[in-house]
Amino acid sequence: MIFVLSLIKLAWDSFDKDKTSHVKSYISYLHNSLNFLRTNLIISHKEAQKFSNYRYLINHSQKCTSEDVLLLLFVKSSPENFKRRQAIRSTWGNEAYILNNFDVTVKVLFALGMKPQPLNQKKLQHMLFREDQIYRDLIQQNFLDTFHNLTIKFLLQLTWTHTYCNHARFIMSADDDIFIHMPNLIRYLQEINQTDVKDFWIGRVNRGAPPNRNKDSKYYVSYEMYPWSHYPDYTSGAGYVFSRDVASKVYQATLTLNASLYIDDVFMGICANTMRISPQQHVFFSGEGRAPKDVCIYKQMITSHGHVEDFHELWRYATDPEVQKFSTGFFGRLYCTMAKIRLLCTVIGTFTYPCKAAFL
Ligand SMILES: *[C@@H]1O[C@H](CO)[C@@H](O)[C@H](O)[C@H]1NC(C)=O
Ligand SMILES: *[C@@H]1O[C@H](CO)[C@@H](O)[C@H](O)[C@H]1NC(C)=O
Ligand SMILES: *[C@@H]1O[C@H](CO)[C@@H](O)[C@H](O)[C@H]1NC(C)=O
Ligand SMILES: *[C@@H]1O[C@H](CO)[C@@H](O)[C@H](O)[C@H]1NC(C)=O
Repeated sequence: MIFVLSLIKLAWDSFDKDKTSHVKSYISYLHNSLNFLRTNLIISHKEAQKFSNYRYLINHSQKCTSEDVLLLLFVKSSPENFKRRQAIRSTWGNEAYILNNFDVTVKVLFALGMKPQPLNQKKLQHMLFREDQIYRDLIQQNFLDTFHNLTIKFLLQLTWTHTYCNHARFIMSADDDIFIHMPNLIRYLQEINQTDVKDFWIGRVNRGAPPNRNKDSKYYVSYEMYPWSHYPDYTSGAGYVFSRDVASKVYQATLTLNASLYIDDVFMGICANTMRISPQQHVFFSGEGRAPKDVCIYKQMITSHGHVEDFHELWRYATDPEVQKFSTGFFGRLYCTMAKIRLLCTVIGTFTYPCKAAFL
């Protein structure tokens, strides 16, 4: 039955036009090495600095000092997203809860630019200062907070990490509309931290993806900006984690790379590629997808995209000891495998996590 289901999924995938073009680009990708990225995108240190030398408006230089930080988590937020930040602080981004229940230090910071409209700018900025006085968790620079400035926000995260928190074991970058199952993530990272971690970079991996050449798309990239047929492997920007040696190497790469490509997760891929670092897939990082609601999924999920309204509901599941106890033992595991096959491997499923996640 499992075999038949896998066949159905394969057939389903190949109907999807987007995926077919992925396959073509993947083939050309196998024949090309991406060495040319390094030689083509290198610019002088001085030119590269122009992409990142924005002034800090809010800067918590002491946030990370002298502690064994397991995870530094940057949430890419925008000035007006007060509600999302509140929801995150009271659920998966609750540092105190994490410290009390897992005895590890996780630092959660929100990366922000400035609001474009000059009329509201002053009022909004005042509200941000007030918010920050209470929570002390905003990092803001004076660039415009727009979709096409996401790579600048990425540089903010790397630069801040390099300057104020280069001892954090792991760094995560995440959207403010994803749910992170913090207990599962912490258990996973603690396990990884037991080993001699190097070149660790994990998430939902996009392999050999072609640039979007459709001018109407939000993700449109011109030939001038990126002339090649495919991107290097990269993890979906919704949420990914890397170790501190990767943070440091990628930071070094940014010092001499042309950062005009505004798709931040692809730019991370370019930086990593020039440093010979490649990403690994973790099946329970969702990328753009939203996880199906099911206890068997909640037991293993790490991230799920496209939430906010139901943060509190998901967080209750994530922290409920009954959920962790659920489906232990042979029959429990069998039950969950069947449930996950139905949710992840069949046409009625959501394809958030790959079918093989059902068998883990
Ligand atoms: C960050 O803040 C600290 C203390 O407020 C200050 O000394 C430092 O110059 C700031 N750094 C930057 C780059 O603005
Ligand atoms: C990570 O591992 C190192 C060495 O194995 C250990 O010293 C450190 O305390 C660990 N950090 C956390 C936060 O678990
Ligand atoms: C990015 O931010 C800079 C600095 O505020 C601004 O000049 C530029 O117009 C912004 N770019 C976009 C595409 O929004
Ligand atoms: C960076 O790349 C853009 C094309 O996307 C180009 O217009 C610009 O001149 C490049 N910058 C430098 C300093 O070479």
